[in-house]
Amino acid sequence: MAAELSGKSVLVTGAGGFIGSHLTEALVKHGCRVRALIHYNATSFIANLNHADRNILSEIEIVFGDVQDGHFCDKMTEGIEIVFHLAALIGIPYSYVAPVSYVQTNITGTVNLLNASLKNSVEHFLHTSTSEVYGTAVYTPIDEKHPLQGQSPYSATKIGADKLVESYHRAFGLNATVMRPFNTFGPRQSLRAVIPTIVTQAIRSDEVRIGSTTPKRDMTFVLDNADAYLKAAGRTDLGGETIHYGTGKSYSIGEIIKLVGGILGKKLKVIEDRERIRPEKSEVMELICDYSKAKKLLGWSPGYDLEKGLREVIDFFNDPSLEIPDRYHI
Ligand SMILES: NC(=O)c1ccc[n+]([C@@H]2O[C@H](COP(=O)([O-])OP(=O)(O)OC[C@H]3O[C@@H](n4cnc5c(N)ncnc54)[C@H](O)[C@@H]3O)[C@@H](O)[C@H]2O)c1
Repeated sequence: MAAELSGKSVLVTGAGGFIGSHLTEALVKHGCRVRALIHYNATSFIANLNHADRNILSEIEIVFGDVQDGHFCDKMTEGIEIVFHLAALIGIPYSYVAPVSYVQTNITGTVNLLNASLKNSVEHFLHTSTSEVYGTAVYTPIDEKHPLQGQSPYSATKIGADKLVESYHRAFGLNATVMRPFNTFGPRQSLRAVIPTIVTQAIRSDEVRIGSTTPKRDMTFVLDNADAYLKAAGRTDLGGETIHYGTGKSYSIGEIIKLVGGILGKKLKVIEDRERIRPEKSEVMELICDYSKAKKLLGWSPGYDLEKGLREVIDFFNDPSLEIPDRYHI
């Protein structure tokens, strides 16, 4: 399916992140020449790309920088045919206390990359949105016509970025597609996210501290997510489209804890931790994806079910060489 990608020069922003690192590896495997943007840091730490296969890593051009710098984005996009834009601030709790940072990274960063992509005649710009743009579902399963609701500063900045992408397609003819994954999980994900939070506690003890067990989420395994980008990337006819990726099934956090306990052979005690709860009107109670558009346009459907994916996450965090700090804040 992704044969047309072989030999393409591509840029992945957020390549040190959870999804970006898996996507970067997948693109190298498909014969792409990959430039990987890692958020500049003083120690040259390449974050999740450290988990990549060494042979693959040696084929990647690693660039350090910041999407907030338009001049840098112009340079970084030179010679690039396809942009996979994943760099973002994504933590919802941090967006309550540092909303301006979210505007600068998620909105200004996206417009910088859009301008750079126009200047450098990029063939396809794939922007990464999120199902958080819907807030609590008005109806389920959620299709691409569902109304947008800015239920957190994070979600509001992603809505802004998505609309800028749409406008660059309409106003300037940029072949730009909005990829909208529902919740994604898998190895390498930050311990801030719900599944790593549950799994790491469950491996170490018989107790799980969690904000709330009732919200329901549609969980896509990260390699399925990468597969969606591969299927969309080489297409020149998707400009202006927004496409959902999800499984069409949702699980409550309580059900996920039970599944993890079942795999580990433990009966886990759940302790509600008030500090982890979102403000009442900001909590998103249910997300279920209608992915029929992805199926129809791209022939994409998820290959992993939740239990199969959870087993891979548990294997990843069970590795004794992996350092898991005791406490994570925002
Ligand atoms: N994880 C999910 O469940 C999920 C679901 C839907 C959508 N998304 C979207 O997918 C994308 C990737 O998410 P992820 O889970 O891999 O998150 P992540 O936090 O692991 O990755 C984001 C990356 O962006 C980088 N970054 C942040 N600010 C930057 C800046 N100013 N300049 C350059 N790089 C910067 C970070 O260093 C990080 O490596 C995001 O756009 C997110 O909104 C994630």
